[in-house]
Amino acid sequence: MLHFPVLLEESIDFLVQKNDGTFIDCTFGRGGHSKNILEKIHKNGFLTSFDKDPYAIKFAKKISQKNFNIIHDSFCNLNKYFKENSVDGILYDLGTCSTHFDDPERGFSFNKDGPLDMRFDNTNGESLIEWINKASESEIMKILYTYGDEKHGKLISKEIISERQKNPILRTIQLADLIKNIYPEKQKKNHPATKSFQAFRIFINNELDELEESLRSAQHIIKKNGIIVTIAFHSLEDNIIKNCFKPKEKHYPRDIPLNNERIITFKCIAKKIRPSNNEIKTNPRSRSAIMRVFQKI
Ligand SMILES: C[S@@+](CC[C@H](N)C(=O)[O-])C[C@H]1O[C@@H](n2cnc3c(N)ncnc32)[C@H](O)[C@@H]1O
Repeated sequence: MLHFPVLLEESIDFLVQKNDGTFIDCTFGRGGHSKNILEKIHKNGFLTSFDKDPYAIKFAKKISQKNFNIIHDSFCNLNKYFKENSVDGILYDLGTCSTHFDDPERGFSFNKDGPLDMRFDNTNGESLIEWINKASESEIMKILYTYGDEKHGKLISKEIISERQKNPILRTIQLADLIKNIYPEKQKKNHPATKSFQAFRIFINNELDELEESLRSAQHIIKKNGIIVTIAFHSLEDNIIKNCFKPKEKHYPRDIPLNNERIITFKCIAKKIRPSNNEIKTNPRSRSAIMRVFQKI
């Protein structure tokens, strides 16, 4: 399956306000947004892209433009690479690429049999196989509720523990079938394992903590008037984004002096932008995308 960049024109129009600026694409993926940024900037502009996924890095290395650099690291480490007030625009297009689901060996898909890996960076950290075969019932249940809003989390975690006592849980289809077989309700639209797979993926990749940490760094490294564009795919991500950009003053009672606090303020210049019906028709994955745009003031 091809990967279609979501809200491409809309996001890059906001992001690139000057063609000799310094830009960051935090989520290179298959390079849809990065390539568009590179088309817009001229040779004095510069784009640095990040991705955790070694396959994304392989794609990025094919780009030979001199004003482009790819970094194989998590976007939560932005501040290792950039100084304060040094960047004109930062883009986040969160979550997975369609291509992650194409390769069964990555373990993201409940429709294709493969090892239960689910790491964006499969050269680093703990895979789902390692975790799911040692986690306690209550740990599994907590992940299913917190990151998947799976109301049958208790039932599913119990079944995982019971299956584990007979056979280790190693394959995507093994886990998907286990969930399907005990799921109490018939699901018309989605596979019964949809929410569980989402929850495990978010947990294994530490997606929400890394997003929050990265947005905090982004707020420092972006210049005054610089732009941060975010594209989120579910409310857990979107809530973190909204919270991070809430005016800070609101958190302090009026009588506490703020002299020593450096207050960084952002204006939301576009909120809740959704893909058009046409885009959703061509790329159904885009249907849950929510774009927000913030400017440092
Ligand atoms: C939706 S895709 C980006 C698609 C890209 N905009 C395009 O048009 O091809 C999200 C990408 O972000 C990467 N990713 C997710 N979390 C990350 C993190 N914490 N740091 C760096 N990359 C991350 C994933 O590996 C994936 O390749």
